[in-house]
Amino acid sequence: MNSPAKQPEPWNAKRIRRVLKKAIGVPRYLYVQFLNIFNSNPVYLWLFRNRIVKNFNKLYYYLRKNTFDHTYFMGKHVLKFPTDLWTYQEIIFEKKPDVIVETGMFLGGSTYFFAQLCKMFGKGRVIAIDITLDHLYPELYELDNVTILRGSTSDPETLARVRALIQPHETVMVALDSAHESDHVFKEIQLFSQLVTEGQYLVVEDGIIADTYPIVWNKGPYHAIKKFLKSTTEFIPDYYRNRFLLTHNKRGYLLKTQNKAEVIMPNYNDTLRPLRLWLPYLPAFNDMRWLKSLNQNLERSEKEKL
Ligand SMILES: C[S@@+](CC[C@H](N)C(=O)[O-])C[C@H]1O[C@@H](n2cnc3c(N)ncnc32)[C@H](O)[C@@H]1O
Repeated sequence: MNSPAKQPEPWNAKRIRRVLKKAIGVPRYLYVQFLNIFNSNPVYLWLFRNRIVKNFNKLYYYLRKNTFDHTYFMGKHVLKFPTDLWTYQEIIFEKKPDVIVETGMFLGGSTYFFAQLCKMFGKGRVIAIDITLDHLYPELYELDNVTILRGSTSDPETLARVRALIQPHETVMVALDSAHESDHVFKEIQLFSQLVTEGQYLVVEDGIIADTYPIVWNKGPYHAIKKFLKSTTEFIPDYYRNRFLLTHNKRGYLLKTQNKAEVIMPNYNDTLRPLRLWLPYLPAFNDMRWLKSLNQNLERSEKEKL
């Protein structure tokens, strides 16, 4: 008896989806594996590190609705990248300035941050200046280690008012974050750099906007920083403070020092680290003893660090 002829499966949505999944699955798997290997390739990281960093900084800035516009310290909005806040924390702890002078407060979130750090570290007070005090968090007025001034920071009169609040023996650090036009920032740097004492930092913020909005901000803070550094030997850009890669303050952490050896470059030798992730999986390297011992050594030193 003849068996009934098998009916061909109709080309319905279900069948199309199944066939596509099969067809795409394998190349997609290979592609993902390729990306995994390629992106963690030390040569790629070494060649394109600067570009990756620049693009990630841009991305972080452009997605500001998720990132920059919603960054809080103790519930107060601060207009800074978290990595820069951490860098400030490290600097203030290390240098323990008597006075932190901050220009540009807006809501005062950063002023609040500096003041709370000073309290936590048991030393320091903040003098903060803005051309308008309309947007400040009211809690700022309750802090006993904050002095708030209204005035323009490109005006020598404002500098004189700040100077009058500082004792000659006090150590001073300055953070500039007011208007971002190059001429204003340059004037501000020229005025407020005078307050910085030896061994302390002058932080000129927002150099990154030359990358994020090059047409508008080509002549922004970065331009002013370059101009200032050409005119002085007192300050050195401390790139170690940019070592977290994500930063608003490109070339903006300027250390006042006569001792150039004090400034150390960040060490990016770790770029080679991915080698240990993927080399062992290549058959040619599979039973190389040196690689195994390298892995063991790395694991041991990591455990010791913990
Ligand atoms: C970017 S916001 C400061 C943000 C704040 N430092 C933070 O991190 O949260 C810039 C502030 O600079 C102030 N500003 C603009 N021009 C100024 C000037 N000539 N003198 C002083 N402050 C100025 C603005 O009023 C604004 O509040």
